Amino acid sequence: MITHTELAALQAQSLKMQGWIRRQTFSPELEKTLRRFSSWEVSELIFRVNQSTFRGRLVADPSLPAGEVEEDGRQRWFSLDEINELRRRMKVNRRSLMPPRPKGKRALRAAIANFKGGAGKSTVALHFAHAAALDGYRVLVVDFDPQATLSHSMGLTDVGEELTVWGILARDLIHETDRMNAAPRGAESGSTLPQRRLPSSIRDLGLGDLRINDFLRTTAWSTIDIIPSCANAAFVEFASAQYRHINPEWSFFAAVSRYLDAIPDDAYDVIIFDCPPAIGYQSMNAVFAADVLYIPSGPGYWEYDSTTSFIGQLAEALGDLSAGFQETFPTGKIALPKAFADVKFLLTRFEPSNELHQTMQAAFQKVFGDHVTKNPIEMTRAVEQSGRFLGSVYEIDYREMTRETWRRARGSFDTAYADFKSVCVKAWDQVEDSE
Ligand SMILES: Nc1ncnc2c1ncn2[C@@H]1O[C@H](COP(=O)(O)OP(=O)(O)O)[C@@H](O)[C@H]1O
Ligand SMILES: [Mg+2]
Repeated sequence: MITHTELAALQAQSLKMQGWIRRQTFSPELEKTLRRFSSWEVSELIFRVNQSTFRGRLVADPSLPAGEVEEDGRQRWFSLDEINELRRRMKVNRRSLMPPRPKGKRALRAAIANFKGGAGKSTVALHFAHAAALDGYRVLVVDFDPQATLSHSMGLTDVGEELTVWGILARDLIHETDRMNAAPRGAESGSTLPQRRLPSSIRDLGLGDLRINDFLRTTAWSTIDIIPSCANAAFVEFASAQYRHINPEWSFFAAVSRYLDAIPDDAYDVIIFDCPPAIGYQSMNAVFAADVLYIPSGPGYWEYDSTTSFIGQLAEALGDLSAGFQETFPTGKIALPKAFADVKFLLTRFEPSNELHQTMQAAFQKVFGDHVTKNPIEMTRAVEQSGRFLGSVYEIDYREMTRETWRRARGSFDTAYADFKSVCVKAWDQVEDSE
């Protein structure tokens, strides 16, 4: 007979092994740091200006950040902060190097979501966050997945569950319940309804007192913050079901959206959500808060199948919310039914010479038309390799692998990011103006 006791013992054994495996991949004591970027990368891959033009500018204006020269030669290497200062101060052919950012709007929010584990969600979220930061945007990523792949990749391994999306949900339940209790109720009917009560097990956690900034963690990238996840947050789904039972009028799916609304509009430019491989309380919060829905999918038949059932179940879940909460949902920045500014399907792990992949790409395009992004993300060894070191192709130094391998991988993510950026910039028009 195997009960929860034996399962717990098995897990304890496994955890010990997990720690060992992690130490083989990277040292947990070692803080993640960000490398410098060479003048070749900064000019041609980041600013997209001629390398000699760029060098000429640096010579002409000695007050500009000059980077550091490494022993191996002529290249100068720049930190992310130096790159951002150069971007602010340099103009090329009177063209500003700053990325487009509409004034008087909040940050654009994009959810990377699908059912299937291994679809490439976390890889896409990580690479888009890094590409956007190198493009000059201030980025916030929210890790909704208790597997915490994205949090680990961004160097956060020691996270308390109260400071994850679960904490945001519980905090919201407390605030919303207080708000509902304070609002005049049953005035029309003349009767007073009993106050909604939260059990002390929830009140006593102190989550109601947490401030907005308590959830925001810095990363090795100075312009990327993260709301991390951790394995202990896996009980969110279970806990959220209980919370709903305690207060059935609580619009549980809007908790993260309300939280993000409270962040100053100009604190970030882009907010990226990495979703768990399921439709549940967490992914509904991600999807509801998102302006843009990005659905990565592998190029195989089963992935096509699973993507189809994902959008079917999502449609059903969003329909249920509209029907169930129309009456009680607090009016404000968000409305029901939930509407996205855009929805895109992005093929990942694509092999251009693979006939099955070509056929599946044609099928996706035929069915979803313009909703399929122009460029798929290619299957590359560089991603596997950088992933093994818990990083992105942007983070890995190109001198650590064949230059061509690195270029191909980076090029694939660069074009996919360019598509993503144009989707976001267009979607911004549909975001309400700040007051
Ligand atoms: N373009 C790619 N080329 C090669 N390997 C990839 C690529 N995208 C993802 N992978 C690998 O596939 C695995 C699953 O990807 P991941 O992003 O974690 O999926 P998900 O978040 O959807 O579960 C990871 O090991 C990752 O390194
Ligand atoms: Mg993932």
